[in-house]
Amino acid sequence: MDISKSIEEFYKLYGRGEVRTFFSPGRVNLIGEHIDYNGGYVLPCAIELGTYGWVRKRNDNKIRLASKNIGLRVEVDIDDLKYEKEHSWANYPKGVLYFMKEEGYGLQGMDILVWGNIPYGAGLSSSASLELLIAEMVNNLFNHGNIPKMDLVKLSQRAENDFIGVKCGIMDQFAIAMGKENQAVLLNSHSLDFKHVNMNIGNYKMVIMNTNKRRELSDSKYNERRRECEKALNILKVHKNIDNLCQITTGEFEQLEKYLEEDLIKNRARHVVHENQRVLKACEALESGDIHQLGQLFIQSHNSLRDLYEVTGIELDTIVETALDQKSCIGARMTGAGFGGCAIALVESEGVEDFIDNVGSIYNEKIGYKPEFYTVGIGNGTRELL
Ligand code: GLA
Repeated sequence: MDISKSIEEFYKLYGRGEVRTFFSPGRVNLIGEHIDYNGGYVLPCAIELGTYGWVRKRNDNKIRLASKNIGLRVEVDIDDLKYEKEHSWANYPKGVLYFMKEEGYGLQGMDILVWGNIPYGAGLSSSASLELLIAEMVNNLFNHGNIPKMDLVKLSQRAENDFIGVKCGIMDQFAIAMGKENQAVLLNSHSLDFKHVNMNIGNYKMVIMNTNKRRELSDSKYNERRRECEKALNILKVHKNIDNLCQITTGEFEQLEKYLEEDLIKNRARHVVHENQRVLKACEALESGDIHQLGQLFIQSHNSLRDLYEVTGIELDTIVETALDQKSCIGARMTGAGFGGCAIALVESEGVEDFIDNVGSIYNEKIGYKPEFYTVGIGNGTRELL
């Protein structure tokens, strides 16, 4: 990323003067899928792909937004922030600003330019990355950096839930704000307690595999899965005093599953309960450097998301199966919401190049178009670049 070129571009758009530069990462989830809205543990990390932003304060209430990725430029007033379909990507910044204003944080006009290298629609959270970018800009420009990170996380999630209308959990925003170089974040999505865990994967590399299948269906299917989990919870609540499905252990589930008469609902709940346990095991495996165990947990997680939770699809299944057929790969799974987007694989460092060549060509043969691969590192959370 050539920062000085982008600043020149900022000058062209908005004139010369002071400019501040920010960066906000994307994320991958190592394990713990579709359980952050069921009170479960998740283990995501921030990645080195992300969204850059350049910003300058204005003396009025105007927000001017431009992107180097998408031609559309938008100008809005802080006092008139509402969702407008034709504003496309600009609705994410607008949503964040709306809730920052509602929370009573300091906020004035700004000129903003953004550019991102997170592939759009790939399930690496380009939207949460942009949300936190804007929240951190407002935090640093108008609030002396004093807004607690957790508030930035929560209001970004609210922007997504209540301004954009996607009922996502808190994992993406959390990982993006709290990420640390070479560390994953173990988050309890119920209590919001968390700790960082070293990405102790020895002689292995994490390869992100983009199926290039856009996750178009994902929002409606995502909300459908949430409703199915609520249904299971309401039934099981009658028999056990719980607030969420992840308060059930795998042993207890064996006793309780008889109350879930519909197979589909039983399967969804079974995935949730077992996936939650896999996250804790994965964390132990990382802490003790047992990469093979981590790989096995990846495989179990993917199978469960395919067979019980039904959020994979032919593209994700093909890329994961092909990855697992490679000698150098000890584990692979879909990551994020599913229905397309990305999967991750644990691959022996020396074998990465061959792995990418082989998986790329077999996937292309079977699916009819090429996937993409990223071997990016695990990086820090949203911040100002000084
Ligand atoms: C999306 C949501 C997250 C989480 C994952 C699935 O990325 O934004 O909150 O639910 O799907 O694990």
